[in-house]
Amino acid sequence: MTSARILGTGSFLPRRVVTNAELALTVDTSDEWIVSRTGIRERRVAAPDETTCDLAERAARQALDAAGCLASDIDLLIVATTTPDRVFPSTACLLQERLGIHGSAAFDVQAVCTGFVYALAIAEKFIRTGGTKRALVVGAETMSRIVDWNDRSTSVLFGDGAGAVVVGASDEPGILSSHLHADGAYKDLLTVSTGVSDRGAGPGHITMRGNEVFRMAVTTLDALVGETLAANDLKQTDIRWLVPHQANIRIIAATAKRLGMTMDQVIVTVDRHGNTSAASIPLAFDTGVRDGRIRRGDVVLMEAFGGGLTWGSVLLRY
Ligand code: ACO
Repeated sequence: MTSARILGTGSFLPRRVVTNAELALTVDTSDEWIVSRTGIRERRVAAPDETTCDLAERAARQALDAAGCLASDIDLLIVATTTPDRVFPSTACLLQERLGIHGSAAFDVQAVCTGFVYALAIAEKFIRTGGTKRALVVGAETMSRIVDWNDRSTSVLFGDGAGAVVVGASDEPGILSSHLHADGAYKDLLTVSTGVSDRGAGPGHITMRGNEVFRMAVTTLDALVGETLAANDLKQTDIRWLVPHQANIRIIAATAKRLGMTMDQVIVTVDRHGNTSAASIPLAFDTGVRDGRIRRGDVVLMEAFGGGLTWGSVLLRY
């Protein structure tokens, strides 16, 4: 049976580094508080004229190169983002035009920090059912545009970036299973309450009930890991790498503990990237592939949790 295999990866970060010390010049915080509560030391912030699509394009071109394929080989393009360039067309269509792809399906997926996991799961289903041969799946964000830089409880958490993978039809095993969930009853825990149709009252910034999100994340991810292992009849020790959504090192460590993993089996980028929402998993995955830790044949668990609430996992053999 046809499987969907990751053929190549790429990523891109804006040039500008914002350290915790720099944030402490404008809001009442400290490097010690941020590192001890979150593990974040610095994040990247896009230039004023740099958009989500700009970041996505750089990551996508690198993934195409790594996969050894041409943009014209792509017959499905999905961008996971919460911070699209425009209301419409989708960032996927904007990226399609930049890459010179004509006629493929192209659309955005909005599942906040779980967006890349949703997008990869969708691409896998398109490939496995036979219609798609090569999919480009991108997670890209400019979270800095929806952060209130005067709010210390959220501004220290987020960053900008993009990651991408090319997924292709293969006879060898690739994506083994995906597990997607959401519960809109928790819509107000983590939100930008201003939109297009509902103008809301606020200025359009992220608000978060951090403690509640933290508790939900730990318990939900614990159940998700159990669900993923059971669906594949696998033991904890069968998983070589954990590539988690990079929101908080304490949440990541709790999931690793649940899997009986040491932290050297976890790809961690939150210290340098902060929370880049839908970009965080493909950024971390590309980091692990490029520095040689993640190798062909390794079993990798990706898991994420974010606004919606949404949560999900993808288990794959790289
Ligand atoms: N610097 C210094 N003090 C701060 C800061 C800061 N940057 N931010 C908050 N504080 C203060 C608070 O005001 C509070 O002060 P008080 O006790 O005088 O009231 C104190 O620190 C403790 O605040 P808490 O919110 O209880 O701190 P907590 O230990 O919960 O850490 C954090 C906050 C890091 C946000 C944590 O709750 C967390 O990581 N939550 C989960 C976030 C997450 O995983 N999001 C995932 C999805 S993101 C997405 O989908 C877009």
